[in-house]
Amino acid sequence: MGRLEGKSVVITGAGSGIGRAASRLFAKEGARLIAVDRSDSVQETAKLVSDSGGTIEAMMLDAGSEKDVQACIGRALKKYGRLDAIWANAGISGGLVPLADQTVEHWQEILRINLIGPFLAIKHSIPHMIAQKSGSIVCTASVAGLKSGASGHPYAASKAGVISLVQTTAYSLSGTGVRINAVCPGLIETGMTKPIFDNAKARGTDHKIGQLNPLKRPGQPHELAAAGLFLASDESSYVNGQALPVDGGLTASMPYAGKPV
Ligand SMILES: NC(=O)c1ccc[n+]([C@@H]2O[C@H](COP(=O)([O-])OP(=O)(O)OC[C@H]3O[C@@H](n4cnc5c(N)ncnc54)[C@H](O)[C@@H]3O)[C@@H](O)[C@H]2O)c1
Repeated sequence: MGRLEGKSVVITGAGSGIGRAASRLFAKEGARLIAVDRSDSVQETAKLVSDSGGTIEAMMLDAGSEKDVQACIGRALKKYGRLDAIWANAGISGGLVPLADQTVEHWQEILRINLIGPFLAIKHSIPHMIAQKSGSIVCTASVAGLKSGASGHPYAASKAGVISLVQTTAYSLSGTGVRINAVCPGLIETGMTKPIFDNAKARGTDHKIGQLNPLKRPGQPHELAAAGLFLASDESSYVNGQALPVDGGLTASMPYAGKPV
C-alpha cells in the first residue's frame, strides 16, 4: 500500500521544481492526481508520471484565478469522486527590485499568485473536505515568510501571509477533521532559483551555495516533496496549523562566521 493509496490530490505549480517532484512522489505512493500549472511544462510532468504507471491529469490553469481553482477542484471531484488533499504550491519570486522602484502592480501580482492562490485553494476545497470529515491542505510558504534576508519585500510579505492564513484557517476548521499546514522551503534548486545557481556556476562559486545552513548545501525538490507527502498523508494526522521549515537548519541558527564548536 502506498502512503497516499487511492487518495485524490490536486497539486499546483506542478510543471517544475517542487510541484513536479511532489507529483512524481505522490503518484508513486498511490495518489490520483490533478496537476496544475500555467505553463505547458505540466504536460511533461504528467507524461513522467503516467510513464511510471501513475494516475494523473494535467491542467493548464492560473492558480491565482478563482474560476481556474474551482475548475481544477471540480475536475478532481468529477474524475476521482472526492478530494483528499490539495497542495497550493504555485508561486513566483518577483525578483529583487529596490523598494523605491516597486510598483503596486508588482505587489499585486505576487500577492495574487502566492497568497490569494492558497486562499482560493482553501476556500474551494474545504466544503468538500468538511463534508467528508477529512482532508489535508498543504500550502507552500518559505523561510522568507519567517525571517528577513531571503527575498524581496512582496515575496516575503506574501509568504508570511501564507503562514498566517494557515494558522487562522486551522483555527477556523476546528472540529471538522480537516487539517492545514505550510512548508517553508529554504534555498532549493528549482526553476525559481536557477539564475542563482547559473550565476554561481559561471563565477565558480557554486560550492558556496547553501553554506549559511548547518547542512551546508542547498536543498533538492524531492526533499520538499517528502515533507509535503508527510503533511498530505494520514501519517501527519495530529499535525495541524504548523509552518514546517525544510531548510537544512537555516532558521534554527543565528548566522555564524567560522567553524562552530
Ligand atoms: N526554490 C526555492 O528556493 C524556494 C524557497 C522557498 C519557497 N519556494 C516556493 O516553492 C514553490 C514552488 O516553487 P519552485 O521552487 O518549485 O519553483 P519553480 O519555478 O521551479 O516552480 C514553480 C511553478 O509554479 C508555476 N506557476 C507560477 N505561477 C503560477 C500560476 N499563477 N498558476 C499556475 N502555476 C504557476 C510555474 O509555472 C512553475 O512551474 C513556490 O511557492 C515558491 O515560492 C521555493
